[in-house]
Amino acid sequence: MGKRGWEAEKIARVRGRLLAWYERCRRDLPWRRSLNPYAIWVSEIMLQQTRVAVVVERYQAFMALFPTLLSLALATEQEVLAAWSGLGYYRRARMLHKTAQFVADHDQGNLPRTAEELRLLPGIGAYTAAAVASIAYGEPVAVVDGNVERVLCRMEGWKAGSRAGGGNAVRRKIEELAARLVDPLRPGDFNQALMELGATLCVPRNPQCLVCPLAADCKTQGEHDTAPRPRMQSREVAHALSVRSGLLSGQAHREVLLEQRPASLTVMPGLWELPSLRESAVPDEALRMTVRHAIMQVNFYVRIRTVFEDDVEALTVPGGDRRWVPLQDAAGMALTGLARKVLSRAHLLVAAPLDAMTPQDEEEL
Ligand code: ADE
Repeated sequence: MGKRGWEAEKIARVRGRLLAWYERCRRDLPWRRSLNPYAIWVSEIMLQQTRVAVVVERYQAFMALFPTLLSLALATEQEVLAAWSGLGYYRRARMLHKTAQFVADHDQGNLPRTAEELRLLPGIGAYTAAAVASIAYGEPVAVVDGNVERVLCRMEGWKAGSRAGGGNAVRRKIEELAARLVDPLRPGDFNQALMELGATLCVPRNPQCLVCPLAADCKTQGEHDTAPRPRMQSREVAHALSVRSGLLSGQAHREVLLEQRPASLTVMPGLWELPSLRESAVPDEALRMTVRHAIMQVNFYVRIRTVFEDDVEALTVPGGDRRWVPLQDAAGMALTGLARKVLSRAHLLVAAPLDAMTPQDEEEL
């Protein structure tokens, strides 16, 4: 980076303008009302790879179910996955749960207070450690996420490199600059302000430079050169939607056929989904709906076929444990995002899903 161009005066100006802008424009997000390290940790894990609007919806329900680190540690994995259902990247939920159990076993449920010690925990990386330490404990460590990278690249006029094309060197320069910039008096606010700027004004396309508090010190003022994004792939899949009527304690009710993905799978093990059809082509008269569902770099084009109970065996491929699940229980289960989307569009998900889960449900899972 070279220290030229970032004399003390400019650093003080950038900090001051950024923090003043943050005071005025910060979004009122539920985790910003707390300095509890556990609450901040959960929010930062959820915010990785997931849009703020989606996290806002799910965060409060998750915290209502698991208000403390110990309550999370004591939950079953299926309960945690159920509360995470629809947020995707379920490995995050498993790691969060395992790390909570580790902290409960080793440190009486108290998270360590420094980024360095947090980093030693299984499942906490540099980003999360710095976010929790700076926001909850006021440690002056810099947080570098994708938004911060973009803001600092633009301010310095750096081309964001791909990992192959010198990206690691750029990344190091970004980390050095972020570490010099972080405000030692308000590190949590500073880090959140820089992320917020990247998320709201200094966005990838059509950045709002005219209202940006850092424009006067920005060498780019507009979009910058970035490595091309990997192209989305497309895949076609087809699932069975099979609903039957059953009797529960003498009451008629409806049940949907769900299948649990085997624990040995690397993608979404243990989550519940609709059984897969043998044929991806679905005759028009049996087509219930088509859904597009994106998972990482793949766009799934999904056909959903209505399948009568008697035809399930002939039309579907066995993939894991199957269960006829009362509709009122389905919403509280660890459904895949796709299964949740399909059941919800078919008006088969009964609302009030997450906190409706009782220990009895847990026994049944
Ligand atoms: N992105 C991830 N964590 C954030 C935070 N605490 N504030 C703003 N944007 C974020």
